Amino acid sequence: MITLCHINDIEEGTSKGFEIGNKYVFAVKKDAQMYLYYNYCPHLGTPLEWQEDRFLDSDGALIQCSTHGALFLIETGQCILGPCKGKSLRAIPFVMGNGFMMVDEEYVARLGRI
Ligand code: FES
Repeated sequence: MITLCHINDIEEGTSKGFEIGNKYVFAVKKDAQMYLYYNYCPHLGTPLEWQEDRFLDSDGALIQCSTHGALFLIETGQCILGPCKGKSLRAIPFVMGNGFMMVDEEYVARLGRI
């Protein structure tokens, strides 16, 4: 297990990207809950963010792919609008301990195409 961040490192309603090995993931904090996804759009496999650590739409309600604008629910990763509607982001399992978000780097290393 490796530690990605502390829950207080991410402000409510914002997101943050991480590199683990040569794979990219991102965390979102919404309603004091943490979510973690593979940074890989199910449409064409591109990274989602439009600027460093910016994975959400303008009002912070949904995850947005910067390439073609697909919108995803923060809670489930499901695409609700855009070219990959009905598909989902890959959720990454994690554990929280003392406020720290931890992931299995071997699981992340095995991530490939969706
Ligand atoms: S690559 Fe994400 S919507 Fe097309």
